[in-house]
Amino acid sequence: MAEYELVKNKDDSYIIDDDTKIKLLISEKVLKDKIKELGKKITDDYKDDNPILIAVLRGSFIFVADICREIKIPVTFDFMAVSSYGNSKVSSGIVRITKDLEFNIEGRKVLIIEDIIDSGRTLNYLIKNLEARNPSSIEVCALLDKDVPRKKKNKIRYKGFDIPNKFVVGYGLDYAEKYRNIPFIGYIENE
Ligand code: IMP
Ligand code: MG
Repeated sequence: MAEYELVKNKDDSYIIDDDTKIKLLISEKVLKDKIKELGKKITDDYKDDNPILIAVLRGSFIFVADICREIKIPVTFDFMAVSSYGNSKVSSGIVRITKDLEFNIEGRKVLIIEDIIDSGRTLNYLIKNLEARNPSSIEVCALLDKDVPRKKKNKIRYKGFDIPNKFVVGYGLDYAEKYRNIPFIGYIENE
């Protein structure tokens, strides 16, 4: 396999990997600043608590690693994995838990850490599922909120960016398990 060619084109925004062009949407610097800001808000809001951060694998692994270091209070970590896409760019609509929590969240303050909200189905499913376990509160921190019409409004207390309705990759997000380790967020252009 060839190395990623993380080289910007003349217009200063394209990255090429084999035949794939990825157009820069959110740079590392912009991500970093926003995550700092979100971390500070979370720190202020949970000052006297020990919230449990539930990171939704696999897409949010980089986001949670970065934001947790901007949260300056004790937190507990747990991880859940859900699958709704398979290897396609279109949600199958069926959400499946492929890895459940290790901890009991009853009476705990839960903060769900999500990479991206698209149709909102995954998040709605997760909230419902977690509510049944009687935590004292559930809030959502999502890095990206796609501009998609949704029947049910999602409650995202801590939001990074509103983005256009495009399939994005990088910073933990994949297309068919590729591009998660690209350090910025972009979208695949030539398809
Ligand atoms: P939803 O259930 O349609 O909201 O989809 C949520 C999940 O699908 C996210 O947690 C991501 O893992 C994945 N996903 C949605 N949109 C994208 C995208 O543009 N790029 C990569 N993964 C995405
Ligand atoms: Mg995913």
